[in-house]
Amino acid sequence: MRTCPACPAPSGCARPPSPPTRLEPAVTDVAEPKIKTYTPLYDEYNYTIDDVEGELPEDLRGTLYRNGPGKMEAGGTPLGHLFDGDGMLSMFTMADGKTHFRNRFIQTKHYQKSIVSDAAPFRALGTMRAGGVLANALRFPANVANTAVVMHAGKLLALWEGGRPTELDPDTLRTKGEHDFDGELKWLGAFSAHPKWDWDTGELFNFGMAMAPVPRLICYRVDRAGKMRRLAHVNLPGPMFNHDVGLTKKHMVFVVPPLVFPLPKFFGAAFGLRNYMDALEYDASRGTMIALVPRDGGKPRILHTDPQLHLHMCNAYEDGDDTVVELLNYHATWEQLNGQLSAIDSLADTGTMPYGGIPTRMRIGRGGRISVEEFSGLNGEFPAINVKRMATRNRYTYLSAGLDGSVVPNALAKIDADTGKETLLRMPDGHLPHEAVFAARPDAQSEDDGWLLMPVLDAVNNIANLTIVDARDIEAGPVYTGRLSHHLPLTFHGCYTPRVARPPR
Ligand SMILES: [Fe+2]
Repeated sequence: MRTCPACPAPSGCARPPSPPTRLEPAVTDVAEPKIKTYTPLYDEYNYTIDDVEGELPEDLRGTLYRNGPGKMEAGGTPLGHLFDGDGMLSMFTMADGKTHFRNRFIQTKHYQKSIVSDAAPFRALGTMRAGGVLANALRFPANVANTAVVMHAGKLLALWEGGRPTELDPDTLRTKGEHDFDGELKWLGAFSAHPKWDWDTGELFNFGMAMAPVPRLICYRVDRAGKMRRLAHVNLPGPMFNHDVGLTKKHMVFVVPPLVFPLPKFFGAAFGLRNYMDALEYDASRGTMIALVPRDGGKPRILHTDPQLHLHMCNAYEDGDDTVVELLNYHATWEQLNGQLSAIDSLADTGTMPYGGIPTRMRIGRGGRISVEEFSGLNGEFPAINVKRMATRNRYTYLSAGLDGSVVPNALAKIDADTGKETLLRMPDGHLPHEAVFAARPDAQSEDDGWLLMPVLDAVNNIANLTIVDARDIEAGPVYTGRLSHHLPLTFHGCYTPRVARPPR
C-alpha cells in the first residue's frame, strides 16, 4: 500500500508529494545506458515481496534496516551534496519464508519543511539557504538523519554525525523524535554514524565531533540498557573532519585523516560565505593523528603517522601488544573523493576515480612504532564483518567492490585474512550492490556462518531487489532475490536485528 509522503493520509490524498519537477526521470536509453544512483523515491510502500527467485532461508528470521538519502531536493531545488538528502528508512522483515518491505521518510524538521517550501529551508553541509549571506550566517547544518541506523537497547535510531540520533518505531518506522540519552548529549549533541559494539558486554561506544569551545572528539559509552556516560575527549589541533572510530577490548581508536577546515575557510563557512563541505581541505603536511582512548576513560594516547585518506574502518583489535586497525585507504585526492561524494545524481558521472579505497592494515606497536600495509588489492567501500567479531580479530571482511577500475560498486567481495584468498560475486551489468550487512545463522558454527543481506539497484532499469547470499560461499550466487516493485536509491548504512518487526499490514 502506498501512502502520501507529504501527509499521513492514505493513498488517494489530493495533495501531491513534493514534485521532482527539476529532476530527470529514470533513464531507459538502452543504447547508451546512464547509471542513475540516487533517483528520489517519493512514494512510501508497505507490501510483501512476491516476485522472488530462490528461497528465503528457513532459519533467517529478522529485520534489515537501511538508511540513506531518499530525495535530493527541497521544493524542487536540488540540494548541493549527497550528505544533505533527506533520510529515508527502508525495512526488510524476513520470516516464515517471506520478506515484507516498508519505507518511510524520517520526519525531521528539514524534511517537513522541504516538502512545503520552494527551496532549501535550512543550511546543510553542502547546501546554502536561499537569501544570501544573512540567511546563512551562524546557522548550523540541518540534521537530515540520513547516514546510518542502529538498534540498541530496544531503540531504533537513525544517525547523522552532526547532531542527535532520531528515534523511530521499529515496527511502523514512525518518527518519535530526537533522542538525547536522558540529556547526556549536550547542545548540538553530535553522535556519529559509526558506533561500535562489544558483543561480550553488550556495550555501544561512539563519539561526536564538537567545534566549540575547542575542536574535539567526545567519546561516549552506552551500556546494554541504553544508559550513556561520557568517557573522555580528544582535543584536535583545529577544526577537522573524522567519520569513523574503531573499538578494541582496551581502546576506542581514532585514525584522524588530515581533513581540515583552514580557519579562514571555516569562519567563511560559519558566516555564510561558503558551504561547509567546500571549506574542507586535505593537508598532507599534518599527517594522520591516531588517538587511543582507554575504554574506561582516562587520558588518550596520541600518535602521528603518514597521511592517510579514509572514511571507513573495517575493524580494530589487539594482537599481542599491538593495536591493529583495518580501514579503506584512498589512493585519490580529497577533491576526487569529495567529487564522488557530491554526486547527487550519478556516481558514474564523477570522472575516472575508481570506486572505493584499498583495504589497509595499520599496526601500532606498544612503543609507538606504526606500520602500514595493504592486505588486499581490491577497491571497495562499506566494509562489513560479523558484528560478533567487532573489537577482536576477524577473519572475514566483506566489501562492496569496484572491479576493473569501475567508478561504481559492481561486486561483493570477501577477504579471508588467514589465507589471503579473495572471493567475488560480480553483479549483473548495471547492478549496484548497497552495503552488505552480515546476519549470523542461529547456532552458527563459524565466523562466516550466516548471510549477507544487500539491496541491489538495477541502475539502468531503475528497479531494485533484496539479494541474500550465503556468506560461506558468495561465489555460489544469491540464495534469494526478492524484487521490489520500484527502485531504491543507494543507501549508506544499515543494520540487522533478529527481532522480527511487525509492520502494519
Ligand atoms: Fe559512513
